[in-house]
Amino acid sequence: MILLKNGSIVLNNKLVKKDILIDKDLIIKIDDSIDNNNYEVLDCKNTLVMPGAIDVHVHLREPGFENKETILTGTKAAAKGGFSVVMSMPNLKPCPHNVDNLRKQEEIIKRDAVINVYPYASVSVNEEDKELSDIDLLSDKVYALSDDGRGVNNIELLEKAMKLAEKYNLIIASHAEDSVYKYAPAGEYVAVRREIELAKKVGCKYHFCHMSTKESFEAIREAKKNGYNNITCEVAPHHLVLNETMIKNTNYKMNPPLRSEENRLETIKALLDGTVDVLASDHAPHTKEEKNREYDKAPNGIIGIETMIPIIYTNFVRNNLISLDRFLDLLVYNPMRIFNLPKYGLYEGSVANVIAIDITNPHTYSEDEILSKSKNSPFIGQTYYGFTKYNIFNGKIVYRKEGE
Ligand code: DOR
Ligand code: ZN
Repeated sequence: MILLKNGSIVLNNKLVKKDILIDKDLIIKIDDSIDNNNYEVLDCKNTLVMPGAIDVHVHLREPGFENKETILTGTKAAAKGGFSVVMSMPNLKPCPHNVDNLRKQEEIIKRDAVINVYPYASVSVNEEDKELSDIDLLSDKVYALSDDGRGVNNIELLEKAMKLAEKYNLIIASHAEDSVYKYAPAGEYVAVRREIELAKKVGCKYHFCHMSTKESFEAIREAKKNGYNNITCEVAPHHLVLNETMIKNTNYKMNPPLRSEENRLETIKALLDGTVDVLASDHAPHTKEEKNREYDKAPNGIIGIETMIPIIYTNFVRNNLISLDRFLDLLVYNPMRIFNLPKYGLYEGSVANVIAIDITNPHTYSEDEILSKSKNSPFIGQTYYGFTKYNIFNGKIVYRKEGE
């Protein structure tokens, strides 16, 4: 049995000292103080103990691009980042547009994943925006559909996918990008506006990935105000803390790109006013060789799974911009509810998916410590609070900070 001793959990939006006892894969007791009775004791002093986080937007690259990341390395990095669950995007080879292809990914997950991985199925065959994926047969095997990496610009196809999503109670996660305006702000918000209208008409659950422009947030805010609760959105840490004037090298290149300071402030505003439902890293590993190309030829994407929680904790929770409850909603409970995922939490009887993050001692993120196979992070050298001390998944320790 594992005893998490002297940590603080969130109760009524405040930190309260509690001990937590785990037996096999379950939390069996949470109390003010639990005596050590020959348990394996984990010292959680100075930490916030919370349910393992959920990242609904990661690229694990396997099968197909194992030189960038694998399910083993990606989930180890996620465990280090404080996650119990990640949802893996389908820009893979083979692409999970049918059951056979999905099975190939599922077999590797079964063999190698150290935390839960729930794969997306693609919306279209090979994400080519031409032919619909085999959604009927995939519907009971995935929680969500996405063509992430590309926008769906074939409106007829998108409407069909939405109708099937509505029929099977799946959510579509949209990489909203209009093919005319592409990376420009309008590339995002023109697609967002069009897709909101379509999703309202069909009535399906529709989630916007990595939102980054003022106009996108205005459109989503308006839809929510008018009662369309099926429309949700996520933001990524980099769009909250970086803008286009800070770009130093290809480790600042991603899609959507870093934008103007005005757009960054609007992203923060949407986070603070509740327009944003979910935080997601868009963890997108690429090799050194690829990122060493000249800027225009380097691929889009940065790794982010190891730094998301520290960036958000340090910049928003520690500074009292967002509450502890909101922090947990953005990282755990909203993704769980919106994507209809299996439930867990900090309560007796729950599956033991628990993390302890150090909120007292700052740590400087270094390249050496990165567990992802790729190192393309603009946050190397930055100092944050909130790095993981322990990650317990299904009652097993899947990460512990070096030296602990
Ligand atoms: O920066 C990005 N990288 N944005 C995407 O939409 C795709 C991702 C990738 O797969 O590398
Ligand atoms: Zn995307």
